[in-house]
Amino acid sequence: MGKIVPHIQSKYISSATDYNKCPAPERCEVAFIGRSNVGKSSLINMLTNNNHLARVSSTPGKTETINHYLINEEWYLVDLPGYGYSKKGKVKKLLFSKIIEKYIKMRENLTCVFVLIDIRHAPQEADLTFFTWLITHEIPIAIVFTKADKLSAKAQNDMVTSYKNKLLETWEYLPETFVTSAQTQHGREELIKYIIELCHPAQGQPQKRDGME
Ligand code: GTP
Ligand code: MG
Repeated sequence: MGKIVPHIQSKYISSATDYNKCPAPERCEVAFIGRSNVGKSSLINMLTNNNHLARVSSTPGKTETINHYLINEEWYLVDLPGYGYSKKGKVKKLLFSKIIEKYIKMRENLTCVFVLIDIRHAPQEADLTFFTWLITHEIPIAIVFTKADKLSAKAQNDMVTSYKNKLLETWEYLPETFVTSAQTQHGREELIKYIIELCHPAQGQPQKRDGME
């Protein structure tokens, strides 16, 4: 018997250039973030079974705004612009826009930030620096490996294991991790179920982050 895939209904709501122009924070919300081109928009289309929902492009930097999608009339899935690392001479700088910074710090109904990582790449400085920033700001996170179809099952396992080991050099414990492919829909069910659990209306009011009223 096949597994039951939760039914997903999706609707585009808005594209905002600032956190205070986002929809009223009255529903549970999760956001996808990661380096440009990692597959954030593709993953949103895969989860919602709707290839026309989020704009996908092979050119990095396609998504430039905070995009809200309403899922099952219950919770928001948010597509964010990518971040990157620039090196000018000896000065390295993690570049992520003020839009992202303010949204993540201020958005009171943001329940989890899913950081997307291309499964083919060893840990990159930009991602490690971004993780540290999120943890410093006490943002709940999960990790989603993308583009699993590009590797064999064994290579996927090896990459995920070595990535986790790298994180455990400095972290006490690991967040939830998921392995996905927008092309094969691998990991879709697990990820949807996890988000639904985070946002389930049976838990009452949308969860607010610690310290936020
Ligand atoms: P920005 O909005 O520019 O930050 O990019 P993004 O992270 O939203 O990436 P996007 O979804 O636009 O995908 C970037 C490229 O990767 C596109 O060419 C996609 O077709 C490709 N891609 C995304 N996910 C997958 C995947 O799971 N498998 C494969 N093979 N290609 C993928
Ligand atoms: Mg995008």
